[in-house]
Amino acid sequence: MGVYAVTGSFSGMGAAVVARLEAAGHSVITVDLREADVVADLSTHDGRRRAIEGVMARARSLDGLVLAAGVGPTPGRDRVRQILQINYFGVVDLLGALRPLLVDGAKVVAFASNSTTVVPLVPRRAVAALLRGDAERAERALRLFGRVGPQIAYAASKTALARWVRRAAVTADWAGAGIRLNAIAPGAVLTPLLERQLSTPAEARQVKDFPVPIGGYGDPGHLADWVVFMLSPAADFLCGSVVFVDGGSDAWFRADDWPGGVPWRRTVGYLRRMRAFKRAAPSGGGTPAR
Ligand code: NAI
Repeated sequence: MGVYAVTGSFSGMGAAVVARLEAAGHSVITVDLREADVVADLSTHDGRRRAIEGVMARARSLDGLVLAAGVGPTPGRDRVRQILQINYFGVVDLLGALRPLLVDGAKVVAFASNSTTVVPLVPRRAVAALLRGDAERAERALRLFGRVGPQIAYAASKTALARWVRRAAVTADWAGAGIRLNAIAPGAVLTPLLERQLSTPAEARQVKDFPVPIGGYGDPGHLADWVVFMLSPAADFLCGSVVFVDGGSDAWFRADDWPGGVPWRRTVGYLRRMRAFKRAAPSGGGTPAR
């Protein structure tokens, strides 16, 4: 049986993941704002440090890690900052610091969102600033959006997170160390986070009007089943994937956008990446290029 750490363990999909892992006999170190083994506020640097130290104090090694803590795009004065701090830094800071605890063969799942592909107008500058670790600049790029700022910030935080995951997953530190790092991208799932959005008429209308081809909302237990699958040996060959489980919204909006071929103007960069990989792994596999 394995040892796992799960953030956002108190409610919604994180709680459903914990229930499944414990029912299967695994030990789970829970991290949340309340009622967790490690009580920590992931919206601050100190809180993230507390979370990291708390997990390290409870486990010498981890077989898996699930980063589910997050806040939704509800309105509020300080909301943009909170969204960026919790949804992006509250994940990537923990990923970086806890990686040395992950054993060869460990699996990691971070919660992104289908907002990464279905929300328009997300400024590239904000995503790029997050990836550079520059929270202030990201916040500044999002200030222009006024009342819809939290929605755009939410999509920006999850887009940057999905990119971080894809960039890191293939490197020597992750794939090269036998750790599988992937993200899940849920659509609207009926958890307390979505219930909060449904509790105000304006937001409820937006959520209800949003196209979901199969109709209705996702079930937190079904999403947890996907996460458990992504923590299982079935995920041994899954690396840097963003798995969409969203009732078809992404396919509705973006069916022809991806997958797609390598654009001709990027062929030179593509060949460079090919050569870099070969240099790092002359036998044809195993050691990633960066
Ligand atoms: P939830 O609100 O039920 O659970 C989120 C958990 O994160 C809660 O236990 C909460 O206490 C914890 N949390 C929030 N702020 C925190 C902080 N500062 N420090 C520590 N813990 C904190 O939400 P849900 O829906 O289960 O969300 C799980 C993940 O899935 C989140 O990352 C969310 O962004 C993502 N997601 C949710 C969707 C949905 O429709 N419910 C859709 C797409 C993504």
